[in-house]
Amino acid sequence: MRRLAVFASGNGSNFQSIANAIKSGKVEAEICLVVCDREDAYVLERARLENVDSFSFSAKDYSSKAEFESEILKELRQRDVELIILAGYMRLIGPTLLHEYPQSIVNIHPSLLPDFPGKDAVGQAYEAGVKETGVTIHYVDEGMDTGPIIVQKTVPILDGDTIGILQKRIQETEHDLYPSVLQQLCQQQLT
Ligand code: GAR
Repeated sequence: MRRLAVFASGNGSNFQSIANAIKSGKVEAEICLVVCDREDAYVLERARLENVDSFSFSAKDYSSKAEFESEILKELRQRDVELIILAGYMRLIGPTLLHEYPQSIVNIHPSLLPDFPGKDAVGQAYEAGVKETGVTIHYVDEGMDTGPIIVQKTVPILDGDTIGILQKRIQETEHDLYPSVLQQLCQQQLT
């Protein structure tokens, strides 16, 4: 059983979809820890309801990224975490974690990378007037939404879509895709 940590900054609907997939046996893994950089994020409440430990912090309480990532690392080591799953974690991962978890940190991003990296990828695609966007799951490197792509799924942008409708369609895709890719990663069927 692979030991996961989920990193998130907000609502945590992707954390929830992974937790649900584990409960129903679709993903054979255990979420050992939720790491969150916002002490008021709803994902922390979700973790509590799922009986998952959490570590939350505020970056302004630390003098550097290396300092708070060292604290995170302690929490990960204590629980023998093997894979880090970024699910709406709105920070770049630094060398402290990258060196300790080579090729073992994955991220989900709501666009077809390399298009529309960074914040508000759904809004960027909507404003650009493209006919399709999508979801990318990739390994994490030091860049913003760069790193080797594992899988991508296209999501159409339809006439009459509002940004809210598009957001919902993308999130439904994420909630389906992330657990299925994680199961394959946990079974080491993907490299
Ligand atoms: C997700 O749509 C995820 O793809 C995105 O944040 C959202 C988090 O939603 N991540 C990024 O934009 C990373 N660059 P959630 O908190 O409900 O899972």
